[in-house]
Amino acid sequence: MASTTPDRSHTRGYVIAGVLTALMVVGTLLLLRNITDVAGHPLNTLRPLGDQARKIDDLVVPVFAVAGIVFVLVEGGVIFLIARFRRRSDDADGEGDPVQIHGNSSLEWAWTAVPALILAVIAAFNVAAIWDLEGDAQNAEMNVEVVGQQWWWEFRYDTNEDGKPDVITANQLVIPADTTVGVNIRSNDVIHSFWIPTLNGKRDAVPGRVHKIALHADKPGIYEGQCTEYCGLSHGYMRMQVKALTKADYEKWLDNQLDGPVEPKADTPAAEGKAIFNTKCASCHQIDGYDTSGAPTASGEPDPEYGGADHPLVSGNAPNLTHLMSRDHFAGGMFPLYDSYDEGAARTSAMPSGDPSQGELGDWLRDPPGKKPMASDRARGMPNLNLSEDEIDKLVAYLTTLK
Ligand code: CUA
Repeated sequence: MASTTPDRSHTRGYVIAGVLTALMVVGTLLLLRNITDVAGHPLNTLRPLGDQARKIDDLVVPVFAVAGIVFVLVEGGVIFLIARFRRRSDDADGEGDPVQIHGNSSLEWAWTAVPALILAVIAAFNVAAIWDLEGDAQNAEMNVEVVGQQWWWEFRYDTNEDGKPDVITANQLVIPADTTVGVNIRSNDVIHSFWIPTLNGKRDAVPGRVHKIALHADKPGIYEGQCTEYCGLSHGYMRMQVKALTKADYEKWLDNQLDGPVEPKADTPAAEGKAIFNTKCASCHQIDGYDTSGAPTASGEPDPEYGGADHPLVSGNAPNLTHLMSRDHFAGGMFPLYDSYDEGAARTSAMPSGDPSQGELGDWLRDPPGKKPMASDRARGMPNLNLSEDEIDKLVAYLTTLK
């Protein structure tokens, strides 16, 4: 009787191991099926849509192949040894032990050198790819400044190259397709991480430093991204997009951005909304040309990066709203600015066309921290201004004119 008990528990062990292995295989297959569907999973690193992401992806397959071969050899060896040298019911202690190889120098040298050699070969290809990506960034055809903020992204374009930005936007980085764009990534507060997985790897936005990477979108389209460094309470609400346009559409977009803000007609709700904006919103949010005299940074001092008091594009800690409606989303890419639009056209044209989402903007103005939490000291993020319904309606009327 006593000798059958261990066998039965072995059988149970094999059954459990088998079930777990089957579950793992099925789970992996389901995961693989999901992540190769790029439309449903826009943050997909395995479906590159630009040169830099492709260079990274080209490393993934060979490295996985090498890792897979090593995995199969090592795990296969372990399973073989477990089966071959397992303790049998008639084994007696100290009899028939396998030959002990502890201290065998040749074997130890071999299993140290072989992995080191494999890693050295992989490292050589990795380092070459890193240099290649660095070269792309240095040889970019145009450059955009990218600034991480709690909790949104700012993009600054210096089109006349006088050292000061002449277009400042937020959340949607608009670039020409089939063009290598260098992005100089910095931060206005804490460490963020800029990541558009279909176009390139992630790069941290670190206060006091500038990190440069290249983005090259093959085709016009929207490329989704997400801040990937925990940066405070609303980190998860810090998205961004790259919108790549045809070169002609990009020029159209740029011309529109360089234009001043749309002025609402006198005696309309929008005109009243503009007046409310100037008293309640303009101390943080910039509309180009309105002088708010150097919006303060998190430290409370005007930021010379923004040109200080003499620069008309100051935006500081809140997104520049001059051409708000040229974007798809607001509040760190979280909420749609349009209720409905022709997806295809909106995704590849200079200006989304459709019905502005009065409801989303209204909900936001009614209770911003309820939709997207502020910092615990309430110094960062959008506060609740306790606006009346009448003020909200007029502000929404004004904001939706800002094409
Ligand atoms: Cu910014 Cu996380």
